[in-house]
Amino acid sequence: MDVEHYRAETPGCQNRIHLNNAGAALMPKAVVSTIIDHIKLESEIGGYEAHAAISESVASAYQSVASLIGAGVDNIAFTENATSAFTQALSAIPFSAGDLILTTRNDYASNQIQFLSLEARLGLRVAHVPDQEQGGVDVAALEKMMDEHRPKLVCVTHVPTNSGLLQDVNAVGAACRSRDTIFLVDACQSLGQLPLAVNDIQCDFLSATARKFLRGPRGSGFLYVADRILEQAYEPLFIDMRGASWTAADRYQSVRSAKRFENWEFAWAQLLGTGAAARYASEVGVDRIRCRVRELVSYLRDGLRTVKGARVLGNDDELCGIVTVEFSKLDPQQFVLELRERGINLSAQGREYAVLDYDTKKVSAALRISPHYYNTKAEIDTAIAAIDSA
Ligand SMILES: Cc1ncc(COP(=O)(O)O)c(C=O)c1O
Repeated sequence: MDVEHYRAETPGCQNRIHLNNAGAALMPKAVVSTIIDHIKLESEIGGYEAHAAISESVASAYQSVASLIGAGVDNIAFTENATSAFTQALSAIPFSAGDLILTTRNDYASNQIQFLSLEARLGLRVAHVPDQEQGGVDVAALEKMMDEHRPKLVCVTHVPTNSGLLQDVNAVGAACRSRDTIFLVDACQSLGQLPLAVNDIQCDFLSATARKFLRGPRGSGFLYVADRILEQAYEPLFIDMRGASWTAADRYQSVRSAKRFENWEFAWAQLLGTGAAARYASEVGVDRIRCRVRELVSYLRDGLRTVKGARVLGNDDELCGIVTVEFSKLDPQQFVLELRERGINLSAQGREYAVLDYDTKKVSAALRISPHYYNTKAEIDTAIAAIDSA
């Protein structure tokens, strides 16, 4: 991989050691110019008029995102972030009191909060499948729980924000399909760093965001909706006039495609930027990205283990671009601010990011280091030296 080439196309690489790609990655020039060009067009000819002028580029953004995950264009709904994609999907499921949502101990904090909210408001039940000893959801236990409790929905976060774990979503998807159970995957942290194929995962919904490993803009995400869900007329609870037409005083007609899950108003510049980011990732090659990220993460984990007082969380089996590490000697929140002053971007996570996982591991706060393919080993060395000298 020609890392120097990708760095030259990434203005932020000149100013910063950016190891916070799980927060928001650095956008390449192609993405930035796509966004700015559209904002300029809006300022010159008007927002609605600018939108009318870009129908081909919009279609191409849907195509680029769809191709990246092996979906059709009609299966993609753009949203303003991964959370809104996730909640649009949740809202489409006709839950009744007593229904069970089955999830994992590592699902994203906001998702867990939403499940608890549904539990409180609708009387749903939420259960967490135990992990295997080496980490990651125990799929045999999941299948047993599915057979015993017949969940209405299974939710799995592919790559949790707090550990770099890679969940076996293909195995979970197969378990769900064979039992005709709805399967919702949160691919927020995997999109752009790992190949994703919705037909292999066999998910019904997949939510994702643009700003992380995809290297798109903030304020943009999308939801994949499988054909079988669209055919069964699932629709978001608060469908609006983008997803449906008001056809008579007492009636509306939903659109056939996943646009049913979109809202009327859009940041069109961000949508185009997301399409540009998806194209860029495909051109770089997601398989190549995955290999490069693995190499850097392995190097990083080895380096961190040389730092006195560091406890590198998770295991080394399936490496992806998130490493969390606990230190006896430093406060991660404070340390992140100090490093930022020195041009090194990392992030910190408190217990509230992953109550179940961090309580099990007895972690109150951790430092999160998340390299992407455009980072270098020299940058990792600098970050480790800074941590070591803290
Ligand atoms: C695993 C995971 N899911 C969902 C989200 C939420 O994404 P967004 O902020 O785009 O709504 C995040 C954000 O960090 C995440 O890490």
